[in-house]
Amino acid sequence: MCAKSFKSTNNFAESEISDGMTLTIERMTEAHLPEVMPIEREVFAPGWSEEAFRNDLRNPAALYLILRVDGKIVAYAGMWLVVDEAHITNVAVKPEYRGRNFAKRLIHRLLSIARERGCVKAILEVRVSNTPAQKLYEKFGFRPVAIRPKYYDNTEDALIMWLEGLDTPEYEATLRAIEQEFCPAK
Ligand SMILES: CC(C)(COP(=O)(O)OP(=O)(O)OC[C@H]1O[C@@H](n2cnc3c(N)ncnc32)[C@H](O)[C@@H]1OP(=O)(O)O)[C@@H](O)C(=O)NCCC(=O)NCCS
Repeated sequence: MCAKSFKSTNNFAESEISDGMTLTIERMTEAHLPEVMPIEREVFAPGWSEEAFRNDLRNPAALYLILRVDGKIVAYAGMWLVVDEAHITNVAVKPEYRGRNFAKRLIHRLLSIARERGCVKAILEVRVSNTPAQKLYEKFGFRPVAIRPKYYDNTEDALIMWLEGLDTPEYEATLRAIEQEFCPAK
């Protein structure tokens, strides 16, 4: 996470003191759902059901991370790892915690894990109207490649975004540069 972070090999847990707050990223489990579901409903209205989350958390190909501020879950993101491809499934940050690089930290961590697991590319879908999320993904090198018509609720189109070269030294440098934005001391 950052130079002054405290790492644990268990469940990807990593904590850091930043601006007087303790930030912790760790793997999501079913035990976190009572805190995650209200965020999902607030952010995506209604978003995924609890059952959908439970099913995905039991899927060996899925990996979800939560971000805590002083112990409280305020953001999460997830992906599926299929052969050499990472599929980012979601990212959500509680509205009052946005603009503080929390999504950036989570996507950085997911793509770093994907690289460690041997992925060479990544893909995702995002609403065509969702400029903040598209900018976030563009920052990590995702580029629009196609449109999936009426993908959301049979009304809004999805933009498919694609990232190649995850395994390259150039992409490692990209991730390092992005890390500097939330961890300038490193
Ligand atoms: C999109 C979302 C996850 C961003 O979370 P966040 O923690 O506020 O984002 P960060 O502070 O980490 O910003 C990371 C980058 O995202 C982009 N970004 C974030 N908010 C933005 C905004 N309002 N307008 C334009 N770009 C934005 C920027 O590129 C930013 O990098 P920069 O600050 O270096 O320019 C958050 O707004 C959210 O939860 N939205 C609702 C759920 C959603 O749309 N999820 C994605 C679809 S699955």
